[in-house]
Amino acid sequence: MDLQQAIRERHAVRKYVDRPIEPEKVREIQKLIDECNAECGLHIQLVLDEPLAFSTGVFKYGQFSGVKNYLALVVKKNVDQNEAVGRCGQRIVLLMQTLGLNSCWVGLTFRNVKDAYRLEPDEKLRMVIACGYGETNGVERRQRKPVGEFFEDARAEKGALPDWFVRGMDAALLAPTAMNRQKFFFRLLDGGKVSARAKFDPLGYAPLDLGIVKCNFEIAAGRENFEWAP
Ligand SMILES: Cc1cc2nc3c(=O)[nH]c(=O)nc-3n(C[C@H](O)[C@H](O)[C@H](O)COP(=O)(O)O)c2cc1C
Repeated sequence: MDLQQAIRERHAVRKYVDRPIEPEKVREIQKLIDECNAECGLHIQLVLDEPLAFSTGVFKYGQFSGVKNYLALVVKKNVDQNEAVGRCGQRIVLLMQTLGLNSCWVGLTFRNVKDAYRLEPDEKLRMVIACGYGETNGVERRQRKPVGEFFEDARAEKGALPDWFVRGMDAALLAPTAMNRQKFFFRLLDGGKVSARAKFDPLGYAPLDLGIVKCNFEIAAGRENFEWAP
């Protein structure tokens, strides 16, 4: 399975079976985590065989079951790393999908088990991503908004949309966003440039969602075909 297929096959999975992630898959995931942390100054950690985050208190009765593995998305306290953590988290999610693993981003419905991961004094846990072997591969979202609601063709001379842009937008719409709110908007500009911004979101997830969405767009559009405009 390549990354484009992983984008199409990934769905939020909240119920997991009791099957450990094989050591060779753990090594591959860890390699990408190390790369992401080095590139972006993050401190993402893979937490294995830790059932408490999803099985105590109110989190015992939520939609989640059998979660024993998760990525702890640890960021700096005083730096805005939302887009970077969205982008890196999604790179890891898609790698896991190619390895036959399932996942779900989790902003709220988990307990912060502080001794399960390492935190430097200037760091905090932003959120987690549950992962492992799902009971199922999840389901495709039923209602999909038309792609035209998510972009504007802002070129001086509008012609047919480039194939790479169409592919990128399709992948952007398949990206997971908090509560599936999809608070993002793209603009196709002249000279093969694209801008993407987060819309207003009082819950504060849109900047992180934007990193996830841009990751999907880049993979499907092909980094060689366009440049991000500021
Ligand atoms: C930043 C973020 C936070 C999320 N937080 C939660 C959460 O707290 N609980 C939950 O059940 N799902 C959570 N999700 C999963 C979304 O609800 C899910 O990705 C979205 O509904 C789209 O469905 P899909 O992932 O199957 O495409 C979160 C997703 C993202 C991207």
